[in-house]
Amino acid sequence: MAFNVAIDGPAGAGKSTVAKAVAAEENFIYVDTGAMYRAMALYFIREKIEPADEASIAAACVNVNITIAYEGGVQQVYLNGENVSGFLRTEEVGNMASATSGYIQVREKLTELQKQLARTADVVMDGRDIGTCVLPEADVKVYLTASSLVRAKRRYKELTEKGVSCVLEEIEKDIVDRDYRDMHREHSPLVRAEDAVFIDSSDLTLKEVVERIEAMIREKRPCR
Ligand code: DC
Repeated sequence: MAFNVAIDGPAGAGKSTVAKAVAAEENFIYVDTGAMYRAMALYFIREKIEPADEASIAAACVNVNITIAYEGGVQQVYLNGENVSGFLRTEEVGNMASATSGYIQVREKLTELQKQLARTADVVMDGRDIGTCVLPEADVKVYLTASSLVRAKRRYKELTEKGVSCVLEEIEKDIVDRDYRDMHREHSPLVRAEDAVFIDSSDLTLKEVVERIEAMIREKRPCR
């Protein structure tokens, strides 16, 4: 039986950094489900489909094939055969992903792929609905969050280090808006699963968060 760790939480809570570190430590596969929603969003942007145009989004879903491969242990996302991993981490793609990930046609397509991956391998999977919808039977479930100001400051630091000029207040507003959309959509909204362990990383280091999750994994599979 594959061992599954689900990490959910809002944008910028540090899920991917934490999930990658836990996966490396445990020798599990890290599955970044946000990247799959971003790849779909990239397709909609390229096709010039408006995020509010549900009929066109639904029709486009039929033409999109998302696949995942691991190269050197790093997840690569393919959109209709093209490796698009390098195009996914922009604000434009993130906003489009947030606006379109609420559609049932988009969710059904990606949820099935995610379930398949978790059936066949030990995974740490991060996203918004992993513990609630994708892997309700996950062995370890975490809801990782941080205050919107802490998350905005982290993002601000990341962007300024890359030489991108930005305004902290605008980043925080973007984060608050995205939280609202992710938490209030009709299908698979971001909510903490009842059995997920709540971790607020505002005042914790990466190492502390990773150690807490590893302790939870050890408890569930003590003999490994
Ligand atoms: O985690 P991220 O920023 O890469 O995610 C991009 C968007 O995709 C986010 O706004 C919400 C959506 N998403 C989702 O609805 N369900 C997931 N499991 C992962 C991401």
